[in-house]
Order: sequence, then C-alpha cells, then structure tokens
Amino acid sequence: MGIEIEAKSICKNYDEYEKVLKGIDLKIESNTFNVLLGQSGSGKSTLINIMSGLLKPTSGETLINSININTVDEKTLADYRRNIISNIYQDYMLLPELTVRENIELGNGTDGDTIPLASITEILGLDEFINKYPSQLSGGQKQRAAIARAIIKKPKILFCDEATGALDEENSKLVVKLLHDIKEKFGITIIFATHNLKIALTADRVITIKDGLIVKDVKNDKVLSPMEINWGIEEPADE
Ligand SMILES: Nc1ncnc2c1ncn2[C@@H]1O[C@H](COP(=O)(O)OP(=O)(O)O)[C@@H](O)[C@H]1O
Ligand SMILES: [Mg+2]
Repeated sequence: MGIEIEAKSICKNYDEYEKVLKGIDLKIESNTFNVLLGQSGSGKSTLINIMSGLLKPTSGETLINSININTVDEKTLADYRRNIISNIYQDYMLLPELTVRENIELGNGTDGDTIPLASITEILGLDEFINKYPSQLSGGQKQRAAIARAIIKKPKILFCDEATGALDEENSKLVVKLLHDIKEKFGITIIFATHNLKIALTADRVITIKDGLIVKDVKNDKVLSPMEINWGIEEPADE
C-alpha cells in the first residue's frame, strides 16, 4: 500500500524576524521521483526536516495517511522515522570504525520488514566494497553505502538533501540513476532537494521553491535518463 505524504500550510520562522517557510502546500504521490528545486537559502532543508519529523513547523502540518506527524507523541514519531522514512545528505555520515556492511546494517528498522542485504549491494554495485572501511571508498561509493543504509529498512519515502552536493558529475549521475532504480525496484518515493537543474530533468515532478514559497510545480512529461544528461557546469536554479 502506498503512503501519502502531504504538507499543509507549513510556515516556519526560526526567529521572530525572518519567515523561512511562508505557507507550503504539497502532496506527494507514492512511488514517484520528486525534485524540490531552489537556490541556497530558499527553505528546502527546512521543509525536508519538517516533513521528516526532525523539526516542528511554526504552524501547519505534515500528514502521513492523514496523521499529523508534527504533533504526534514521541513513540509514534520514532516509529515514523524508523520505519516509514529515511534521509540521506550531502555528507555521507558513515561511521569510520565500521565496515560498509556494518554501516548498512545500522539502518535496520524495528518492524522486521527489510530488504535483503544482497539485493541492495547488488543494485548499488557495492558487493566488492562490503568488507571495506569508509576511508577506503571514493565519495560516490560512500554515498552508495549511505543509500544502502537508508533503504535496508524498506522505507516508503527517501528524503535526499543535496545528496550529490559533494560529488563530481559522473558520480552524481550514477547516484541519481541508482535512486531511480531503487524507486522502481523497491517502490520507494524519492524527494530530492537540490539547486541542480540537471537533476530536475530526470524527475517525474519538479517543485520549485523560492524564498519559502512554492513558485512552480510541474509534472515532467519528458523525463530524461540521468546517464544521458550533459551536466556540464552547474547553473543556479532560478524560478
Ligand atoms: N537553525 C536555523 N536557525 C536560524 N535560521 C536558519 C536555520 N536553518 C536555516 N535557517 C535559515 O533559513 C533559511 C532557509 O534555509 P534552508 O532551509 O537551509 O534552505 P536551503 O536548504 O534551501 O538552502 C536561510 O535563510 C537560513 O539561513
Ligand atoms: Mg539545504
């Protein structure tokens, strides 16, 4: 069964002077690849953190199958974070003292519903690195390990915050391609925040955020394959 996530009238101010999110309404369809596109400072990370239950909005709500996860009790929130969603970031956040396999296994949820390690390492091309330590991996390999750790618990939604931000073009393409592959294979909804227009070309839907407001929201009818795109020099996203 799909999980529907919906942001309703979300506003956020970290302090009394600046409104960072000014009323975000957003409903995400399950098993889709969504790009949240916007320049640095537009509010992408704030929105992702609120929808991940890491941060409380000043007003508004995040509904998961009609439950507002921004106001639920600690246990329900922990269940949501452990079993329903996952996050990856620009920094891979692997533990240096653990092997790739041990890092991935850290991602296991609590409800027992997992993806077999072997099918994850195969799809992410990690088989030969499984007993290595993070320091022995390239950036792209580290991010693939971080993806593996994020999906082993079979989340319904994977939030990716600038997940290619530290990677070169080839590795960025590969990571985006692999995120498309895991969306298809395991039915995981992707919400990818980035300032990189090229990633938007591969998405089913592109939601553009500017100064805390959604200024554009389009379904892509010509989705491009990540490997075919000439990423070239990064252009700053503008509305
Ligand atoms: N913890 C915080 N305290 C105060 N201001 C913050 C905090 N986090 C983000 N901001 C501000 O909120 C705005 C949006 O930031 P952010 O959500 O990180 O945007 P993006 O991810 O699009 O770069 C920026 O002006 C940033 O300085
Ligand atoms: Mg950010």
